Amino acid sequence: MTDATGDGGQVQGAAIEDYLAELRTFPPPEEFARSALVSDRTMYEQAEADPEEFWAAQARALTWFEPWDQVLDWQLPFARWFIGGRLNVAFNCLDRHVEAGIGDKVAFYFEGEPGDRRTITYAQLLDEVGRCANALRSLGIERGDRVAIYMPMIPELPVAMLACARIGAAHSVVFGGFSADALRDRIEDASARLLITADGGWRRGHAVELKANADHALSSGARSIENVLVVRRLGDAAGNLVMQEGRDHWWHELVSGQDPHSPAEAMDAEDLLFLLYTSGTTARPKGIMHTTGGYLTQVAFTHRTVFDLKPETDVYWCAADIGWVTGHSYIVYGPLANGATSVLYEGTPDFPGRDRWWSIIERYGVTTLYTAPTAIRTFMKWGTEYPAAHDLSSLRMLGSVGEPINPEAWIWYWQQIGGGRCPVVDTWWQTETGAIMISPLPGVTTLKPGSATFPLPGIGAEVVDDAGRKLERGGGYLTLTRPWPAMLRGIYGDPERYRQTYWSRFEGRYFAGDGAKVDDDGYLWLLGRVDDVMNVSGHRVSTTEVESALVDHPSVAEAAVVGANDATTGQVIIAFVTLKLGLEVGHEHAEVLRAHVVEKIGAIARPRVVIFTDDLPKTRSGKIMRRLLRDVAEGRDLGDTTTLADPAVVAELRRRAATGSGEE
Ligand code: PRX
Repeated sequence: MTDATGDGGQVQGAAIEDYLAELRTFPPPEEFARSALVSDRTMYEQAEADPEEFWAAQARALTWFEPWDQVLDWQLPFARWFIGGRLNVAFNCLDRHVEAGIGDKVAFYFEGEPGDRRTITYAQLLDEVGRCANALRSLGIERGDRVAIYMPMIPELPVAMLACARIGAAHSVVFGGFSADALRDRIEDASARLLITADGGWRRGHAVELKANADHALSSGARSIENVLVVRRLGDAAGNLVMQEGRDHWWHELVSGQDPHSPAEAMDAEDLLFLLYTSGTTARPKGIMHTTGGYLTQVAFTHRTVFDLKPETDVYWCAADIGWVTGHSYIVYGPLANGATSVLYEGTPDFPGRDRWWSIIERYGVTTLYTAPTAIRTFMKWGTEYPAAHDLSSLRMLGSVGEPINPEAWIWYWQQIGGGRCPVVDTWWQTETGAIMISPLPGVTTLKPGSATFPLPGIGAEVVDDAGRKLERGGGYLTLTRPWPAMLRGIYGDPERYRQTYWSRFEGRYFAGDGAKVDDDGYLWLLGRVDDVMNVSGHRVSTTEVESALVDHPSVAEAAVVGANDATTGQVIIAFVTLKLGLEVGHEHAEVLRAHVVEKIGAIARPRVVIFTDDLPKTRSGKIMRRLLRDVAEGRDLGDTTTLADPAVVAELRRRAATGSGEE
């Protein structure tokens, strides 16, 4: 491992310039590589030689009721995979494991936030899914219907999803943190007939009353809903819960009495498995469509290879919420398709104490942790004493998803959580891609902190310039060059918006909306959403690189930078910085950080203003809302902030921006 950063050799006038060079490298630990599922490049070569045959081979790892007659039909931008093939996702996730004799194996170790625990085996999960499927049928739900799901992170959530899949209804899971209005809009867009919810869930010690929200949604619209199925989670803690006669049904009354046997529908490979709405900040949400055969093929393949899954011994924990695509693909469908044992945790990382996650890892002997940079930076802010107080030696693999991971956050994760022995896979993908696209394979790839490294076998990804020409080196736009099995099949009800949003910017390519750069070794580095690129004196500077330079300073836990309009330079850089807890720094610290950025990147990236803040405004999925920060920086009206995790953060930032803390 070398430790140096330096001049990135920027190219003037490039689509996005490239300033930060991270030179530390981490080859796969020898012992890890020796027993890894994939330990050489053969799979990449085979996939490159014949991508369709490669994906067909992965699809054969699933159980099909009918084989397909054609692997791919590609009418740009519409793809169909495994045409004519028939299968059932729930059958693949449950029945085939029970039939193979591993029914007693643990599927989920569930831990509720208050400390309640349940261990659920594959056989038990199959029974519960069968009962739920029969309950859905008893409510008139049929193949082809849509079912909205609005639930906390309890086992009944994956049960409900799998029951839909079993009978061929598509689910639309709406994250439990969303408002009644957001729920109503999504129900209406999908014309869902049934809503599955709970009286509520636990979050940071408080009861979140989901049924009350659902009632608001249904009283203000959402007329397509005929029945509501309600899980009792809170019991007496659930305030004044009203069950509407004829419409609302308790889960424990309706589901528990059903027969556990329920036939799994033979679905077409291209039947809709689910809709998942991408949480736009203001624009109308897009119902991203995912289908059956291709989706399951790619999530199962990526879950197995990216996390080097050893299903007999691993205890895998994806700490996302099932309400996001990460939870759909890597808590529910990928792990269950692979017969893995997972942890499912309901609550927040700081309840009752800031060591909750580490106590969970210790208790269940978690081997594999998959989380987001926002969580890692929060743990950095809290300090090392919380993980240090627990035995984390069971861990052997770490993963990151959702945002670019700053190199220093990567190193912290590697050292403080992974004990310097666990490969860290930085996985790039989107709700739209359905499954991981760009990621290391931990037994093969030499890691560079902050780089998602290379496209996975079978995936085509290239960085292009403004004119859509492939770049061998430097910064530009990330595009995908060929269809992939788990790709979105469209935006529900709006094929034209699908074509416009993803396929119109570059001819024949899918444009993800992200900036990326390629380094001298061909590694890919994600640079954030291109809408966030700043233009400083004619240079296009990536927010991610300046943020990483700030986080590189030992005092900084998290940083967000935005460009604010400036008459002289086009834009100036405004930095919002959260320091590690317990640090006392004076006003002059802003200058220290500015100088640090200049040293790491160059004078071009020097922030004009540094605003210190205890928190940054984030979406519910943990992404920093740069649009809002730009508005704060430029003193604009903020518009709708209800999709924020904590709207109070913005008011506080405004106050600090107005008093100009740290202005140069
Ligand atoms: O900007 C990229 C960022 O998250 C976006 C996709 O967000 P979403 O659909 O909510 O899905 C998140 C979970 C898959 C991308 O366009 N993103 C996701 N993973 C990474 C990332 N940015 C950099 N590095 C990643 N590993």
